[in-house]
Amino acid sequence: MPADLERAAAIIAAGGLVGMPTETVYGLAANALDAQAVLRVFLAKGRPRFDPLIVHVADAEQAWSVAVPSARARALGRRFWPGPLSLVLPRHACVPDAVTSGLETVAVRCPAHPLARALIQRCGVPLAAPSANLFGRLSPTTAAAVREQLGERVELVLDGGPCQVGIESTVLRPDPQPLILRPGGVSREELIAELDEPVLIADRSARAASLPLISPGLLASHYAPRTPLMLKAIGEPWPEVGQAAILSWRGEDLPTAARRIEVLSPEGDLAQAATGLFAALRRLDACGAAVIVAECVPEHGLGVGINDRLQRAAGLG
Ligand code: TXA
Ligand code: MG
Repeated sequence: MPADLERAAAIIAAGGLVGMPTETVYGLAANALDAQAVLRVFLAKGRPRFDPLIVHVADAEQAWSVAVPSARARALGRRFWPGPLSLVLPRHACVPDAVTSGLETVAVRCPAHPLARALIQRCGVPLAAPSANLFGRLSPTTAAAVREQLGERVELVLDGGPCQVGIESTVLRPDPQPLILRPGGVSREELIAELDEPVLIADRSARAASLPLISPGLLASHYAPRTPLMLKAIGEPWPEVGQAAILSWRGEDLPTAARRIEVLSPEGDLAQAATGLFAALRRLDACGAAVIVAECVPEHGLGVGINDRLQRAAGLG
C-alpha cells in the first residue's frame, strides 16, 4: 500500500487524477491549487463546470489556508473533523476559479479515512475531489465501483475498502445562519447539539431554482440509477408492479413477487442503512427489472440524507 500511495502522490504532483477512498464515498482527487488538474476532474466526470468541488484537507490548519473561518466554522471543525462535514466559507485567493466555479466561497472538508489523510499529507497540497462517479450517476462506495464507472479516465484508484458512512458529507453554510445545503453524513441534530442554535435545511426545490447561486450540485437527477425508480412511504402498500426491484427499509411486509429484494437494515439502524445504500441501489439497477421501488426511511438523523438521495434518484426536485 505505501507503494500505491507513493505512486498516487506522484500522479497528483504531475497534475493527474487519483481515485481516493473517503469514509463517505470514493472521490476523484486532483491538486486543488492546480487549475488545469481541476479541469481534468470535470472532464473525466462529464460534470458541468458550474458545479463546484469540495476541497479536502489534512487538518483545520490547512483548511484555513484555503477558506476564511468564522467562529462557527472553527467550532464545527473542532467537533466534526476529521469527518463527513463540508463547510462553505469565503475563499482565499489561492483557490482557482475552476474549483469554486467562480463562486467567492469554497467548500472544505477534512476526511476521516486514513488513506485519504495519508494521501493529502503526502501530496502536501489540498485535494479537490467530487464523488468519483460519472455526472448524475450513483456515487461509488468501493474501488471496484469507481473503476466500473471511470475506467481509463482515472490513472489509479487507491483501494481503501468499502466506505463506512456510505452517503456523502453534509454540506453546511455556517454563516450568517447555519444552513444545510446538502444533508449527509453529519445529521442536523448533531449540528444543533454542537451549535446550540437553529440549523435550517435548504429546500431542495428552492436550491434547484436558484442554481447556480446556492449549491449547484443539487440538480434533481443526481444519484440516479439507470432503471426508473419510484418511492413509497413507510407503511404504504407496495405498488402492484410485478417483477420490480425492491429496496426495503427493514424488510417488513415485503411484496410476494419481486425480481430482487434488498433490505437496508433489518434492525432499523439508519447508519447501517446509509452504509449499504448505494451498493444496494447498484445491485438493483443491475438486476434487469423494469422499475425499482424504494421505501423511504424515517426522516430524522441520517435518514434525512438517505431520503434526499432516494428522492433525487427518483428524479424528484
Ligand atoms: O462526501 C463527500 O462530500 C464526497 C467525498 C468525495 O468527499 N464528495 C462529494 O463531492 O460529494 P460532490 O462534488 O459530489 O458534491 C459536492 C457538493 C455539490 O452539491 C456542490 O454543489 C457543493 O458540494 N458545493 C461545493 N462547493 C460549494 C460552494 N462553494 N457553495 C455551495 N455548494 C458547494
Ligand atoms: Mg457527487
